[in-house]
Amino acid sequence: MITIDREKCIGCGLCERDCPAGKIRVEEGKAVWKPDCIQCGHCVAVCPRMAVAIPEYDMGDVEEYDGESFAVKPENFLHAVKFRRSVRNFQNRKIDRETMERILQAGRYTPTAKNRQACRFIVVQDQLDEFKDLVWDEIPAMADRMKKTMPQYSMLFKFFYRRHRDNPQDDGLFFNTPACVMVVADNPLDGGLAAANIENMAVAEGAGVLYDGYLTRIIEACPAAKEWLGIQDTPLVCCMLIGYPAVTYRRTAPRKPADIEWR
Ligand SMILES: Cc1cc2nc3c(=O)[nH]c(=O)nc-3n(C[C@H](O)[C@H](O)[C@H](O)COP(=O)(O)O)c2cc1C
Repeated sequence: MITIDREKCIGCGLCERDCPAGKIRVEEGKAVWKPDCIQCGHCVAVCPRMAVAIPEYDMGDVEEYDGESFAVKPENFLHAVKFRRSVRNFQNRKIDRETMERILQAGRYTPTAKNRQACRFIVVQDQLDEFKDLVWDEIPAMADRMKKTMPQYSMLFKFFYRRHRDNPQDDGLFFNTPACVMVVADNPLDGGLAAANIENMAVAEGAGVLYDGYLTRIIEACPAAKEWLGIQDTPLVCCMLIGYPAVTYRRTAPRKPADIEWR
């Protein structure tokens, strides 16, 4: 629900004009809210008098526009996108809780379809060794199960397993990461967008990420791993390895030309 402080409301109509669902109207000089909106918060954000609130959210988290601190220069942004690299070589150092919470805020504030905000983020850090052991133990049986339906993956995962069994340092799945962040969501685009912002925020904090597609596939095919994570009923959108990189890249990596069609 949305509340409007009638003392503060000046009936300017900015909230009415910006509401995507037509759920807030100015009547007799004051804004009035009609139930069942998606609580996108545009009315809160646009109001010049801070007259609108969504009490079930943390209103103390709302920041005032100061015209400066949120603006990222276009050249800086593109630079950051180009310099981001997948990390497969991590320092033996954990990301502290406060920093990890800031990184996950970037996922929390990412848009979601219908503003459902239904992404879950599971940080596996303190119990990572237990989780890794479970995943490695499950791989042979899981690879057998997928022999017919996904023979290439079955062979590849067995190959990863054998290499790791023969030399535990050889870890083509976890890359000796200090932590994993699992993004769980019904809507894969919601989860993917959140993951992208989490990665960018991680980079801004001096850390880095690997989207681990193979590990995601393994967990999805492994009921014991899903149960351990408590995600039996929701798809795992992606599994990100996260930590401080032990490698420095001296320049950006080249890319194919952009495939753009102008009409
Ligand atoms: C959805 C997704 C899944 C990926 N899965 C893996 C993976 O399982 N193992 C791996 O080594 N790299 C994985 N990658 C990393 C890509 O190989 C990498 O993004 C690409 O080679 C470009 O390198 P860059 O990220 O450093 O620009 C994945 C990337 C994405 C976006």
